[in-house]
Amino acid sequence: MCAGSGWKPVPGVPDGGVTRCDCQLRARGGAMIAAARIPKRYEHCELSNFTTDFPGADPSIALAQISASRFVQEFDPRDGAGLLLVGGIGTGKTHLAVGILKELIAARGSACLFCDYRELLKQIQNSYNDSVQATELQVLRPVFEADVLLLDELGAVKPSEWVWDTVSLILNTRYNDNRTTIITTNFADEPAASVTRSSSSSPARTAAREETLGDRIGERMRSRLQEMCRVVRMDGPDFRQKFKSASFG
Ligand SMILES: Nc1ncnc2c1ncn2[C@@H]1O[C@H](COP(=O)(O)OP(=O)(O)OP(=O)(O)O)[C@@H](O)[C@H]1O
Ligand SMILES: [Mg+2]
Repeated sequence: MCAGSGWKPVPGVPDGGVTRCDCQLRARGGAMIAAARIPKRYEHCELSNFTTDFPGADPSIALAQISASRFVQEFDPRDGAGLLLVGGIGTGKTHLAVGILKELIAARGSACLFCDYRELLKQIQNSYNDSVQATELQVLRPVFEADVLLLDELGAVKPSEWVWDTVSLILNTRYNDNRTTIITTNFADEPAASVTRSSSSSPARTAAREETLGDRIGERMRSRLQEMCRVVRMDGPDFRQKFKSASFG
C-alpha cells in the first residue's frame, strides 16, 4: 500500500495528503509485544482462547474471565488499579494475565512487561556480582517504568529479609507512581503466621498450616497489595493435567 515508505495517501485527498500506513501500525504493535517479553510458553495465551466451558470447570474461572475482560474495558492508566490473581496450580492465572497484557497493548498501546518473580530476583542478586555488567538499577528500571507490569508467581522465592526488602522496593515504587501491576500467585491471600498465631494454636497445628502470601512476602506488603489490586480467585482443577492429551495449549 505504501511501497515501503511507511506512508499511504489519505483516501479522498487527491494531492499530497498522507497518513501512516497500516504496515507501520502493525509493526508498532509487534514491537510492543516483543518489548513485553512474554515467554514463548505463554505466547498462545489470549482472552479469546481462554475457555470457561469444560468438564469440571469451577465457577470461579468464568468469573475470573469476566473480571479480566472488564479490567481491560475499564483500564485507566492514571488510577494504577491492578489485579491479583490467586489460585492453585494450572488454574489459568498466567494465561488470563498474559491475555490482559496483549489486549492492553493492542487496544490501548500500553507499554507492558512480563516479569517472572523468581527470575527477576535472581537477576537482581546476580547484579551484585562484580563480574556482571548490569547494575541493580538497570535490572529494575524497566520493572519500575512499565505502564503495566505482570509479576508472575509472586511469593515463589523462599522468604528472607532481602526478599522482603526487594518486593517492598518494587511494589512501593509502582504504588507511589500510580502504575498498574497485575500479579499471579499460588499462595492464599491470607495473613502471615505471625499475625494469626494465637496462644491456643498447638505447635503441630502451626506446622501443618499451609504457607500464605503473608508468610511469603511479609504482612505489610500483602496489605499494600490490597490497596493496589482487586483480588480475583481462580479455583478448580489443574488445566494442564486435565487436558494433557487434548489439544488445549
Ligand atoms: N481456561 C483455560 N482455557 C484455555 N487454556 C487454559 C485455561 N486454563 C489454563 N489453560 C492453559 O493451561 C496451561 C496452564 O495454565 P497457566 O499457566 O495459566 O496456569 P497457572 O494458574 O498460571 O499455573 P501455575 O500456578 O502453575 O503458574 C497454559 O498452557 C494455559 O494456556
Ligand atoms: Mg502461572
